[in-house]
Amino acid sequence: MLRQDINELLTRTGPGTAMGELFRQYWIPALLAEELPENDCPPVRVKLLSERLIAFRDTDGRYGLMDEFCAHRGASLWFGRNEEGGLRCAYHGWKYDVTGQCVEVPSEPEDGNFCANVRLRAYPLIKVGDILWTHMGDPAKRPEPPEFEFARVPADQAYSSKRWQESNWLQALEGGIDSSHVSWLHKSGLRDDPLFKGSKGNDYNLGDMKPFFEVVDADGGLFVGARRNAEEGSYYWRITPWVMPSFTMVPPRGDHPVHGHFWVPIDDENCWVYSFDYHPVRPLSDTELQAMRDGYGVHNKYVPGTYRPLQNKDNDYLMDRDAQRRGESFSGIWGIAIQDASLQESMGPIVDRSKERLVSADAGIIKARQKLRRAALALRDEGVTPPGVDTAHQRVRSAAIVLPQQESFLDACRDAVTVRVGQRQVSV
Ligand code: FES
Ligand SMILES: [Fe+2]
Repeated sequence: MLRQDINELLTRTGPGTAMGELFRQYWIPALLAEELPENDCPPVRVKLLSERLIAFRDTDGRYGLMDEFCAHRGASLWFGRNEEGGLRCAYHGWKYDVTGQCVEVPSEPEDGNFCANVRLRAYPLIKVGDILWTHMGDPAKRPEPPEFEFARVPADQAYSSKRWQESNWLQALEGGIDSSHVSWLHKSGLRDDPLFKGSKGNDYNLGDMKPFFEVVDADGGLFVGARRNAEEGSYYWRITPWVMPSFTMVPPRGDHPVHGHFWVPIDDENCWVYSFDYHPVRPLSDTELQAMRDGYGVHNKYVPGTYRPLQNKDNDYLMDRDAQRRGESFSGIWGIAIQDASLQESMGPIVDRSKERLVSADAGIIKARQKLRRAALALRDEGVTPPGVDTAHQRVRSAAIVLPQQESFLDACRDAVTVRVGQRQVSV
């Protein structure tokens, strides 16, 4: 269990909160690049860390992310016209450039410098991989752009999607750290999901339902090792890295692309789940890409025209009790991503952690909470830069490996959990 005041500290990310300030130290995903597909395309509303913002791409292809509301009398700039190097409010025509600077107030005399003194709060927006990233903290402490491998491999080796999740970010992240649920909730996916099935590791995964967890510190967060029995004298290890504040990677299976997530707070009761797949050394095949677009693996199907999952809490995630009874699916819900979402949303928007009963399989979650709390307080009270800001901390991989029983997983896996450009993932 967690004290209520610590739960509050960890879950609130609006401006001025300790965890909100922690998030504002990092580059975080703000949109998929596909949401701003061309110059002068329609602007997009973006809510992040409880701030309402507008994103746009100007005539020269520059990206901007700024306060959604016009400095004049507060109309939403989503209704604005994106043209000739800026976004023009539809109400009285005030115009802003990508830095939030007001560049035109048509009603004012041309020789006055009124508009030079009008500027909206704005954040940088940069494209790395398929994602547009922002940094919402102090510009003087802006880190180097992100170096996560999925965003750095050639474009044909990676695929990203996102979905709206109706819960606080932390219970979503905790699902990414807790790999003990995989043998239960995702049992059917290990057998039939085209992006998961067919690896030797799946047999170990399904053959030992009582994994032992060993959690070790990493520079940027944690490595969570889940150990299951393999052949006589050996163990099957699945190693999940967590990089602060909210990046996790699923351990690989066979030669399938590697999956992972970024869990980004929209506000305290909603988050964006960015889900990616990449292969370190080869392009994704057409079959794999099609499966990703069709919602397999860590991806999902959508309500058309939105990033809301087609299976959502308003339709009970299209749960199929008959499929559950027939044993086709442990929870009766189709798809790995929505199996997770259904249960994490079912906990309520912010789960009351003072009532939980943690067990040894929750070791990773317990350590992650401790690290988050310590880092948020050290930042707030002493200005200490948190783990994971340094791009060197981001060059990690997940791994799946069979080791002799006497070997310590991290000693044996140092190379396997470090990005080695041009070398494939360590996987079983
Ligand atoms: S409210 Fe935007 S120009 Fe008046
Ligand atoms: Fe899951």
